[in-house]
Amino acid sequence: MPVDQSEFRSALRGWASGVTVVTSRSGDRLHGMTVSAFSSVSADPPLVLVCANRSSTTHSLIEEGGVFAVNILAAHQQEVSNVFALSANEDSRLERVSWTEGQTGAPLIDEALVSLECRVVSAHREGSHTIYVGQVLAVHSTDSEPLLYYQGGYRSLHRED
Ligand SMILES: Cc1cc2nc3c(=O)[nH]c(=O)nc-3n(C[C@H](O)[C@H](O)[C@H](O)COP(=O)(O)O)c2cc1C
Repeated sequence: MPVDQSEFRSALRGWASGVTVVTSRSGDRLHGMTVSAFSSVSADPPLVLVCANRSSTTHSLIEEGGVFAVNILAAHQQEVSNVFALSANEDSRLERVSWTEGQTGAPLIDEALVSLECRVVSAHREGSHTIYVGQVLAVHSTDSEPLLYYQGGYRSLHRED
């Protein structure tokens, strides 16, 4: 029996993840969106992957520009995640947060837990998404806790120790 979409989505709500904003640049165009489909791929060479819906504007920019930045959000950046997920404010997202330009030109969100600057090394079309594998060119880290996402809502770490 094939798995239907609602069963699939419901099952995947049980996967706890961090939250990132993936940004890109193509020429003068800058854009970004909230992404939870992010993973480390390899340490040598340093590679990561993100999965972008092909209907997203961010996908077009990564495709054209060949670069992206992964901004892993800190616990206090829930509003940043909301800003970059809503299609209503698609054109004004980067005006609503503070950011700086990285070495690839892709925006680095201020106060992110970690920002990774990447150059696309391969792209794999699967279903509705493209998996972009990027070589990490630069890393920027701060000392804070991560924003988490689980069962369709934001969470933060609860330390037992
Ligand atoms: C917590 C969360 C995680 C998301 N993860 C992804 C993801 O991994 N890949 C993706 O393509 N969209 C993801 N989205 C949806 C996009 O952020 C959303 O569709 C966005 O408006 C697309 O922006 P754009 O079309 O302007 O690029 C996520 C949304 C939320 C709230």
